[in-house]
Amino acid sequence: MIRLNESEYTEIVNYMRDHFGIDLSKKKVLIECRLAKPLKNHGVESFKDYMDLVKKEKSGQAAVEMVDCLTTNYTYFLRESIHFDLLQEKILPDIFDRNCLDLCNIWCAGCSTGEECYTLAMAIADYLDQRRGPLPKINIKASDISNAVLRKAEEGIYPIRELERLPKPWREKYCNEAGEKSFQIDRRLRSWVSFRKENLMQPEGAVKYDLIFCRNVMIYFDREAKGRLIKKFESCLKAGGYLILGHAELLSRGDTKLEPVFPAVYQKV
Ligand SMILES: C[S@@+](CC[C@H](N)C(=O)[O-])C[C@H]1O[C@@H](n2cnc3c(N)ncnc32)[C@H](O)[C@@H]1O
Repeated sequence: MIRLNESEYTEIVNYMRDHFGIDLSKKKVLIECRLAKPLKNHGVESFKDYMDLVKKEKSGQAAVEMVDCLTTNYTYFLRESIHFDLLQEKILPDIFDRNCLDLCNIWCAGCSTGEECYTLAMAIADYLDQRRGPLPKINIKASDISNAVLRKAEEGIYPIRELERLPKPWREKYCNEAGEKSFQIDRRLRSWVSFRKENLMQPEGAVKYDLIFCRNVMIYFDREAKGRLIKKFESCLKAGGYLILGHAELLSRGDTKLEPVFPAVYQKV
């Protein structure tokens, strides 16, 4: 395997931090292992040559491939399931009762292969099935920086073993067979979600959200990038809107103006 020297290592760490906020400063071996294949495919013999290629290549394809290799995309259905209980019992009733919404805008940031945004869609559909009165239109933006994961997420097809994590009524209502060993998320729920390739370090558009999920993304960021991202979330939440982070990403008082309301759940008051 080709090894990284110190200056090459620093260059890659700086590139990933400056462009994407991702902190790889203690991940030398991970970089060497994950980039071994692209180095081989491009026929380059050092990380320096590889980085020159990434920076010079006009199509940007080599850069995309590098990001696909260096992001960690681990995810699964109903991850940190307490958030989906809170969603049905506290957060959705609060959002819908307070605002009488006809459109509910949700952002699932760092959605990886889609399990999180589809769990979210199932939890919402299940909640709405039991709610009386006019129902709001649900709009979920699911974003990630990696092309590879977004392609998979958009299909909404998963191996049948992943079904085991979901409650039986959800499997029956929201998942359809897709061949012998796979299932696909129901078309109605898929129609609620639009996938976007977006870098969380770039400025956000004008849309204001009722709810933002960004779980297990900031754990890979350095302090400065985390601070910038929290400010961005603060400004694109509606008053009364909620931000949900991973349980390993708790904020302290000095980090945010958002109010902590449940574990790893913050509200713009
Ligand atoms: C570990 S996964 C978390 C997936 C899901 N949120 C969950 O909790 O299961 C982190 C995701 O964040 C994405 N990510 C990392 N840095 C990003 C950035 N700067 N902009 C957008 N997405 C990013 C990665 O590509 C990866 O898919």
